Amino acid sequence: MNAIESQESIRSLIPALSNKIYFNYGGQGPLPNPSLDAITNSWKKIQILGPFTEDIWPFIAKEINETRQLLAKACGVTPRRIALTENVTSGCVIPLLGIPFNPGDRILISDCEHPGVIAACKELAKKKGLILDKLPVNGLREGIDRYKENENQFFDLLAKNLTRKSRLVVVSHILWNTGQLIPIERIVKFLSNHPNQPYLLVDAAQSFGQIDVSGAASQADIYAFTGHKWALGPEGLGGVVVSERVLNDSSPVLIGWRSLKDESVCDLIERNQFHKDSRRFEIATSCIPLLAGLRSSLMLIEKEGKVSSRKENILKLSQKLWENLNAINGISPLLKGPPPSGLVSFKLPKGIETNKVVRELGKNRIWVRSLKEPDCLRACVHITSLNNELTKLTKSISGFI
Ligand SMILES: Cc1ncc(COP(=O)(O)O)c(C=O)c1O
Repeated sequence: MNAIESQESIRSLIPALSNKIYFNYGGQGPLPNPSLDAITNSWKKIQILGPFTEDIWPFIAKEINETRQLLAKACGVTPRRIALTENVTSGCVIPLLGIPFNPGDRILISDCEHPGVIAACKELAKKKGLILDKLPVNGLREGIDRYKENENQFFDLLAKNLTRKSRLVVVSHILWNTGQLIPIERIVKFLSNHPNQPYLLVDAAQSFGQIDVSGAASQADIYAFTGHKWALGPEGLGGVVVSERVLNDSSPVLIGWRSLKDESVCDLIERNQFHKDSRRFEIATSCIPLLAGLRSSLMLIEKEGKVSSRKENILKLSQKLWENLNAINGISPLLKGPPPSGLVSFKLPKGIETNKVVRELGKNRIWVRSLKEPDCLRACVHITSLNNELTKLTKSISGFI
């Protein structure tokens, strides 16, 4: 299937794309109709078989198992290492809270992490007497993925900011603001030589559904993702891959009946009451119909081509948008070269307010978002984006200059 055919086929299934020009895939992906149908059908089935009857449990078990298997395949791991969550943040935080830290241990966190994850690390540090260190990657504006010397610059920063007491490194796979692609697998190798063997927590909000995550997801200690952004799934369902080391070392802190080996009893004496596998990080009742919706979206995306060819299509579009924007006098893309993924962030000339531009573009049914650090606009392109949409955005942006 060529790029144009693929764009047409999935686009036509997505009602949200029929009445607007959409560049907010990194915020939330639009849901294709078949996925919405899969959710409603599953919900109806639950009402017909159940909702709380002996007849419903095999259906629910099958839904959970199939989804876990599909996510495990995408992440290049066995299902025992995937916990189902509701979103990226809970996938980061739930296993993180269980990691054994000693007072004085240090957490190295990048300066491009999402506010919720930063807040969780800050609070954890306060409660456990840990020290937070900053990994300053916001200023890296040359493509880390393109040139070895830029990647080396990243590793120089990593080496400089790690200390002997560092016990955890927190970084996103794709930085949500600058759009840099972070070399997770090389970080894992690098950290394996550190005397304190720091854990690696990766926020995969902007990578899952967009690029091949299997190498990074299978090697990081905590790799947390959501279905509702680039995977075009429903909001309220995500997952986290945890390493065997986390399964061994970390004990659940947020606990519920789904964390238990036997959900029907929990006496006061029994030890090792939790699942040995990643289900120990699942908590309680969740929305089962969403599972069918996410599986449907993942299958629809897969139908558009292999992950490598999808990425190629995304890169063609993001390169074009980057070039178009770069050609406008006064607009400065954050990255100095074509972006390594579908995120294209750019600065407006001083004095033009980003929020106002977002609102004005919205009046013309063009949707991008603003970011605060750095102050910029972000437009995301996906396999569903069209060349003429890029042209319209570029024209509209030049109209503000
Ligand atoms: C990098 C990053 N992390 C975390 C989040 C929060 O996602 P969620 O609401 O799924 O936890 C976002 C949302 O935009 C994000 O971009």
